[in-house]
Amino acid sequence: MARSTLGKKLQLARAWSTRKPVWCAWQVNYRCNFRCAFCHYWCDPMGDAPETTVAQFQEGSRKLAEWGTILVSLAGGEPLIRPDIVDIVRAVGEYHFPFLTTNGWFITRELADELFAAGLWGVSISIDYADPDRHDRKRGMPGAFERALAGIEHFSRARRYKWQRVNWMCVLMEDNLDQIEPMIRMAAERGAYFMVQPYSTEKTGNPRHRCALHDGGVSAYLLSLRRRYPNFLSNPYFLARFDKALDGGVSGCKAGRRFFNIDSTGNIAVCVEHRERPVANLFADSSARIARRLNASLLPRACTACWYNCRGEIEALDHPWGLLKSLPTYLLDRGRAPALPAAGE
Ligand SMILES: C[S@@+](CC[C@H](N)C(=O)[O-])C[C@H]1O[C@@H](n2cnc3c(N)ncnc32)[C@H](O)[C@@H]1O
Ligand code: SF4
Ligand code: SF4
Repeated sequence: MARSTLGKKLQLARAWSTRKPVWCAWQVNYRCNFRCAFCHYWCDPMGDAPETTVAQFQEGSRKLAEWGTILVSLAGGEPLIRPDIVDIVRAVGEYHFPFLTTNGWFITRELADELFAAGLWGVSISIDYADPDRHDRKRGMPGAFERALAGIEHFSRARRYKWQRVNWMCVLMEDNLDQIEPMIRMAAERGAYFMVQPYSTEKTGNPRHRCALHDGGVSAYLLSLRRRYPNFLSNPYFLARFDKALDGGVSGCKAGRRFFNIDSTGNIAVCVEHRERPVANLFADSSARIARRLNASLLPRACTACWYNCRGEIEALDHPWGLLKSLPTYLLDRGRAPALPAAGE
């Protein structure tokens, strides 16, 4: 039976307190209409493999619900390429909290409306520069910025429930630290939150886009922005470790134990970057076996390859300060982002 919002929150608390994973990235495809310089999914050979059907999303969500409720980040590739994305959101939303991450190209007012009506918990639209030309160039798609910005506005207007959240999501690279503050402001003007994650070479193997500011000042700068802008949502525990992530990496990864990955064929791995080494399959294995296999993987113990949002935000929940800062995000209804502070504040 489908769970109510309160039921889901209680079940999320159960999964967390019984030390089960509470976050999963579930790729709906590996196809993409963009040609981003910092991500190679658009040419991933998995793009040709058969993709998980809506019926399988229902079956898989039911199985994962045996642990409790989890936050499910539906991504890709570009998830909105799939014509059945609304049904996928509805299927996952019966038991879990479905999120979407999108490049924004295919969002229309109608689609935003349908997705929120289907129970979408939140959406992240990826924009990396306040300057439209720079965003378009890096994303390999003229017009990408304009469509993504319109997408944020469509989602912002389409919200039905207070808990539905719209995020502006940015990858911090070698040349966009100066763009962060203007982006936070533009997000706030549209009722959206702002989140950021550092570039990882894992998607391209190319060190060129690393954030160049290795003087130890990135965390302090981001934390100062977070104090000034109430719509800057990234957890301070996560932001405080950006310098470390950019200079050798953060150890102690909890992939497999607190979060994991499901690829578009149902294979389960500890995280998206280790999907070529699956430990189980969502449709072939029981939920107990999946949890056991994920928990037993030694891979993440020696890996410091990323400091993605999903990793940092979820690991923050196991730290008292991080948990305190995250509780309002998960338990209260965040709704529309707060307006900009008055000038001089
Ligand atoms: C792989 S994309 C899939 C969803 C969608 N196509 C998009 O771009 O939003 C998921 C997120 O990862 C980010 N991303 C892509 N390449 C990255 C990299 N090398 N390091 C860090 N984040 C990256 C994207 O900007 C996006 O926010
Ligand atoms: S970051 Fe997103 S939009 Fe860009 S190539 Fe990767 S999947 Fe496509
Ligand atoms: S640090 Fe390594 S194991 Fe952990 S999520 Fe990142 S890529 Fe995966």
